[in-house]
Amino acid sequence: MSQSIKRSAPASPSSSQPLLKEPAFPIWLIVFLTLLLYAGAVYFDGHGSGFHPQVYAPYSSYTQLADLQITGPPNPLEIGFRVYHKPSCVSCHQASGAGSPGQFPPLVGSEWVQEPEPGRIIRAVLNGLQGPISVKNQQYNNAMVAWGGVFSDEEIAAVITYIRQNKDWGNNAPAVTADRVKAVREKIKGHPGPFTADELLKIPAAD
Ligand code: HEC
Repeated sequence: MSQSIKRSAPASPSSSQPLLKEPAFPIWLIVFLTLLLYAGAVYFDGHGSGFHPQVYAPYSSYTQLADLQITGPPNPLEIGFRVYHKPSCVSCHQASGAGSPGQFPPLVGSEWVQEPEPGRIIRAVLNGLQGPISVKNQQYNNAMVAWGGVFSDEEIAAVITYIRQNKDWGNNAPAVTADRVKAVREKIKGHPGPFTADELLKIPAAD
């Protein structure tokens, strides 16, 4: 009898610890998760549209969805517009194409841009241009970086077509194809750095 009394009250230091221990999973966390679940359910209820088929499956088949895709080749003028405003050309030649007096020559009404054969302008855009140049009887002496390493043949062709055929600017010259840009790229492979206007004028535009 005296033994059992001793066992129920061991004389170890642990006897001073409180009998009520913290639960392994705290109550506040349970409350928090319950509230979170509730908030989630309320949100889902408000935004879920009750799994209405018109919301979750407006298309009954893949073909039906595919039929709605815009098809056909992308319009080069649209691609050209995007390349021009990337911002690449627009930062110097401006959205209006008017450039900046004494600094950046205009593309609007430029004889370089509107040359019927685009050989020279393709070279200028691919490799860059520097030194004195006359555009619409105004002298410029500045430098334009090369765009050949930035844009693909398709993009160069599209942006040149865009500046040549921009109706808002009153420009109207034949389109430039990616094949033409590719061919010029091949021809000027060994050309070091940017062209000069003088140099370009010596190259037949049709080349
Ligand atoms: C950092 C400014 C700058 C940017 C960006 C720029 N250019 Fe130029 N561009 C010039 C300058 C400066 C010249 C004249 C270079 C010279 O003085 O020899 C020029 C000349 C030209 C010319 C020949 C002259 C004319 O006005 O007709 C064309 C065409 C042209 N740029 C097209 C473009 C196209 C297309 C882009 C975009 C892919 C572009 N430029 C981006 C500065 C720029």
